[in-house]
Parts: sequence; C-alpha cells; structure tokens
Amino acid sequence: MLVLLSCTVLLFTQKCFASIPVQDPNDLVLDGCYTEPPSNDGILNTVRYGTTPNGYTEAARGWTSYGCQATPGACPGYSTFDQAFVLEQCKVLAESGFAAAGYDLCCLDAGWNTAATDKYGRTIYNNATFAFPELGNHLHSLDLKLGVYFAPGFNCGAMNKTIKGTQTTLYEVWDGNYDNISLCNFDYSKPAVQKWHDSQVELFHEYGIDLLKLDYVTPGSPSNGANLPSNTSAAAIAYHNAIINTGHQMRLDLSWKLCRNDTYFQIWDKTADSIRTDQDVNNYGQSTFVALQEVQRAIDNARQFVALQTFKNQLITVRPDMDDLFVANPQNITGITDEQRITVMSFWLGFGSNLILGSNLTDIDALGKKLLTSAESRAATAFCNVYPISPRNPSTGDNLAMQLSGWIGGPSPAGQAVVILANLGANLGEAGYNTTLTGVQKVSISLKDLGIDHRPCYVVKDIWNGNSSIVHQGGSLTAYLDEGNSQFLNLTVCN
Ligand SMILES: *[C@@H]1O[C@H](CO)[C@@H](O)[C@H](O)[C@H]1NC(C)=O
Ligand SMILES: *[C@@H]1O[C@H](CO)[C@@H](O)[C@H](O)[C@H]1NC(C)=O
Ligand SMILES: *[C@@H]1O[C@H](CO)[C@@H](O)[C@H](O)[C@H]1NC(C)=O
Ligand SMILES: *[C@@H]1O[C@H](CO)[C@@H](O)[C@H](O)[C@H]1NC(C)=O
Ligand SMILES: *[C@@H]1O[C@H](CO)[C@@H](O)[C@H](O)[C@H]1NC(C)=O
Ligand SMILES: *[C@@H]1O[C@H](CO)[C@@H](O)[C@H](O)[C@H]1NC(C)=O
Ligand SMILES: *[C@@H]1O[C@H](CO)[C@@H](O)[C@H](O)[C@H]1NC(C)=O
Ligand SMILES: *[C@@H]1O[C@H](CO)[C@@H](O)[C@H](O)[C@H]1NC(C)=O
Ligand SMILES: *[C@@H]1O[C@H](CO)[C@@H](O)[C@H](O)[C@H]1NC(C)=O
Ligand SMILES: *[C@@H]1O[C@H](CO)[C@@H](O)[C@H](O)[C@H]1NC(C)=O
Repeated sequence: MLVLLSCTVLLFTQKCFASIPVQDPNDLVLDGCYTEPPSNDGILNTVRYGTTPNGYTEAARGWTSYGCQATPGACPGYSTFDQAFVLEQCKVLAESGFAAAGYDLCCLDAGWNTAATDKYGRTIYNNATFAFPELGNHLHSLDLKLGVYFAPGFNCGAMNKTIKGTQTTLYEVWDGNYDNISLCNFDYSKPAVQKWHDSQVELFHEYGIDLLKLDYVTPGSPSNGANLPSNTSAAAIAYHNAIINTGHQMRLDLSWKLCRNDTYFQIWDKTADSIRTDQDVNNYGQSTFVALQEVQRAIDNARQFVALQTFKNQLITVRPDMDDLFVANPQNITGITDEQRITVMSFWLGFGSNLILGSNLTDIDALGKKLLTSAESRAATAFCNVYPISPRNPSTGDNLAMQLSGWIGGPSPAGQAVVILANLGANLGEAGYNTTLTGVQKVSISLKDLGIDHRPCYVVKDIWNGNSSIVHQGGSLTAYLDEGNSQFLNLTVCN
C-alpha cells in the first residue's frame, strides 16, 4: 500500500478511503536510490536467483485483499474488510486448482489489526472483524497460507508496556514517532528491541501467519506523507532475525519501492524474500483494477531492479515484488485488454516477481485461469524463478527502457531460455522511454542481440499460443505487436 494521507488511519481501522496518488517528486529526495543501471555494453550476464534469506526457492503466489480495498469500484461485492470477505475470495484458491499451481497465500492488507495492543505491546487482530488463530487454522486446513500487512515500529499507545521476557518498557527503547500513522520508532541499538520483534513473530506464528508484508520501510517508500524516519532498514533486519530466532518459517516482503543501490540492496538481499520495486499499481479512483500506465511503470522499475543485478555475477537472493497482479478478471474489470493481460502475466512471471493477485477471485475467466494455472504457466514460472528476464534491446542488446523491447531469461547450461518481445505502448507518463509509437509495430531481435547466437538452431515456442517455429544461427525473432502486446517465447536448443 502507498501511504495516502486519507488512508493512514487504515492501519488500525477497516476502511480505506483511497485518494489518487500522484507522480513521485520525492523520489528525488532519496538521492542515489534509483539511478539508471549502467550500460551492459551488449554483454549478456545471466541473472540467477538463489534461495531467499528465509529459505524459499520460489517467489510468493496467492491473493491479497488490497485490490478490492484500493479500487472498490472494481469490486462491487466488497463492502467490509472482514473474515467473510476474505474467505469467500481465498476459498477459490483452494477449490479451483490455484493452490496446486502454487497460489496458496491468502494475504490481508491494512485493516486486519487494531490500535490496541496486548500486554506486551504487540500488534493484535481486530476481533470485531477477524478471528485469529481460527482464520489461520482454517486456511491451513485448506492447504492455504496466511499473510498479513503491518509497518515497522510499535503502537505509541503501548509506550508503558513491558517487552515480553524482559524488564524493559517500550518507553525505554522508544526513538520518536511516525508523525502521521501513530507508530513509534525503535532505538534498534537497544538489545530488548530484538526481544520485542521475537515476541511479535511468536504471536504472528500463534495466529497462523506465513507471510509478513512490512510496509513503509525506508530508504524507500518515497513521497509518503507519513514523515517516516529516513532509515528503517533495521526493522527488516530485526524481523528477519526474529524469524530465525523463533524458528518459525515465514516470508518477509518489504514495501514499497525500496532503495535499490548497493548500500541498501545488500541489507534487503540478506533479510527479505522480496522487495516491492514500484509504488502501487492500483487504478485509484476508477472502477477497474489497473491501467496500462501503471503496468508500464511497474515494468520499468523491475527492469531497473534486474538490470542492476546483471553486473554482480552472484546469486540474487531477494526477489522483486512488482505489486498486485491483475490478470484474472475479464478486461472490463481488470482495466486492460486481454492481450495486455497476457503481457502483464509474462512480465510479472518473467521477472520472477511475487505473483499476488489483487483480482476478484469469484470472477475469473478462462484466460485468467490459463495464465495462472496452466502447465505452460507453471513451467515458465519455475524457470523464471531461477532465470529472471532482463532487458536486451533490439539492435544493441543494451538495457535501456524502450517501447519496442526484447528481454531474455537464461540461458540455462542446457541452452534453454525464455524471450519476450514487447511493444510496451506509447509512453503514458512513467514508462521510462520517450517514444509514443501508436498502432501495430514490428519488433525484431536477433539471436546475436539476445547474446545466444552460438548454437546452430533453436526451437521457438510461443508459450501462450502453443505454436512453434525454428530459428537458425544468425537469425532473428520477429513479431508485429499492437500497443501493450507481447510474445512470450520458450527457446530450446534443436536436437
Ligand atoms: C544509496 O541511497 C542512500 C539514500 O539516499 C544514500 O545515502 C547512499 O549514499 C546511496 N548509496 C550509493 C552507493 O549510492
Ligand atoms: C466478484 O465478481 C462477481 C461476478 O461479477 C460478483 O458477483 C461479486 O460481487 C464480485 N466480488 C466482489 C468482492 O466484488
Ligand atoms: C476484543 O478486543 C478488545 C481490544 O481491542 C478487547 O478489549 C476485548 O476484550 C476483545 N474481545 C474479545 C471477545 O476478545
Ligand atoms: C505512560 O505513563 C505515563 C506516566 O504514568 C503517563 O503520563 C502516560 O500517559 C503513559 N503513556 C501511555 C501511552 O500510556
Ligand atoms: C503529518 O505530519 C506533519 C508533520 O508533523 C504535519 O504537518 C501534517 O499536518 C500531518 N498530516 C496529517 C494528515 O496528519
Ligand atoms: C541504516 O540502518 C542500517 C541498519 O541499522 C545501518 O546499518 C546503517 O548504517 C544505517 N545507515 C545510515 C546512513 O544511518
Ligand atoms: C463486462 O463484460 C461482460 C461481457 O464480457 C459483461 O457481462 C459484464 O456486464 C461487463 N461488466 C462490466 C462491469 O462492465
Ligand atoms: C520449454 O519447452 C521445453 C520442451 O517442451 C519444456 O521442457 C520447458 O519446461 C519449457 N520451458 C519453459 C520456460 O516454458
Ligand atoms: C527523453 O527526452 C528528453 C528530452 O529530449 C531527454 O532529456 C531524455 O534523456 C529522454 N529520456 C529517455 C529515457 O530517452
Ligand atoms: C505463432 O503463430 C502466429 C500467428 O500465425 C505467428 O505470428 C507467430 O510468429 C507464431 N509463433 C511462432 C513462435 O512460431
């Protein structure tokens, strides 16, 4: 979630009156966090993901309540953020083959907890709308998992409470306020602070929680209106340590638009399973979930995230979270065309991003089901969870943002690769490139531009359409694509 002033109370209440976020002038405040990756000089360095700091080999998949919370206009059946709403949605994951395809997380965004705390000053659930641990137990009985959203720090109302297992009050480890969201900051240099995080993770475990989405982490979360402390990366470290200390395996997802430079990347890469790479993709104020403009921006942020890693020559352990995935519902609810839904799926999956649906799960169409649960989707997801796509521009093999773009994941040692050819569409404001080509465009990239021209030939299969052809050494891949459209290709070395 983005911090929107009218939404800040949302941490503790059940309704979000979302306002429309504006383009982010405060990115500039985070000097050095979002610099353009250096040129790759056309050299292909294959990026690979390794096991995450909390022990996962694949990015998180499932559903979040936030899609409906952010754009209730796209969710006519949504009125109250409560357990009945969440279960109506999440039971679909269990019933329709989604959990079997790895979409097993049922994530509650802001509003599941209360402003009250327990006697140790820990965040607790809102018993007017949710019942923990029954919710977690119920989800687990369906082979599903539970995720929750919260923020660094402790509720200021708990100031005089004593940290569990210590003689230390929260007042003694207090280090100022988050002015607008009634959270108090910790002085992370005090040893009792780790004990508090351990006790909070212990409680989350008792609740049956499997994923922690920690929002407002800085540096990152720019233009937040919440006057966040400039560096809360210690919260990521403390929650990671708490997961280790308590022995309760959980995912840790950091939000939002985390600082990408090496000073901080190495903290995220050692503590978190995923980091949000962009601001919210939600189509605020509208009656659809997402718009192409937000998709362009999310892809550009993921491009920068992965292109920065191509130089490191080491396994990347933190994965990108491109924010809510909107592909499940028909185009008039999702907000983009069916062809663009295919593009969204290919890029979210291709980057090895978390795949957390914001959609209305009781309104999935045939295309949505195919994109999410088909054998093709599962094979590509498994591949890109090791070999994410990175940019390879037509003609140069370079990594700059481009409307007519090429991307490659892999190749694996056996020479297998995935390629995306895309016409990302005329820049609608935040795409990262300047072109505004309209209508169908020819997108062509040579095997040489892709950096894989050393094999005699490849079988090239269109992952979503199923047809294939052969491309020989020295050849090119070509597609004619309307705005926002793409081809997602599986390349295997000819026998
Ligand atoms: C990363 O960004 C932070 C926050 O703006 C800045 O203090 C730091 O110097 C930057 N580090 C690098 C290596 O650019
Ligand atoms: C989901 O879509 C169905 C079918 O259009 C609709 O009946 C239901 O109210 C929607 N659910 C929500 C939460 O909006
Ligand atoms: C519900 O939570 C409130 C604190 O928010 C607490 O005072 C009350 O006792 C709880 N009720 C039940 C039935 O647990
Ligand atoms: C903490 O205790 C002090 C002294 O008794 C009191 O003034 C203050 O209001 C208390 N703060 C909270 C948040 O309970
Ligand atoms: C947020 O905090 C700042 C600084 O304390 C204050 O000026 C502003 O009025 C606050 N905004 C809201 C909506 O509370
Ligand atoms: C930010 O916080 C991290 C974790 O506590 C710390 O290692 C780092 O030195 C801090 N950076 C600055 C610039 O204070
Ligand atoms: C979306 O389109 C379908 C037909 O494809 C139609 O039945 C439905 O009423 C439309 N929904 C909205 C909200 O326009
Ligand atoms: C590519 O096709 C091969 C052969 O059918 C298959 O084994 C592999 O899983 C596919 N890879 C991807 C990424 O779809
Ligand atoms: C876009 O155009 C402006 C003005 O011509 C130029 O300064 C900028 O570098 C261009 N940006 C990109 C990404 O090409
Ligand atoms: C699949 O068929 C479409 C439509 O005929 C064609 O444009 C495309 O190039 C084909 N793809 C492959 C990989 O052969």
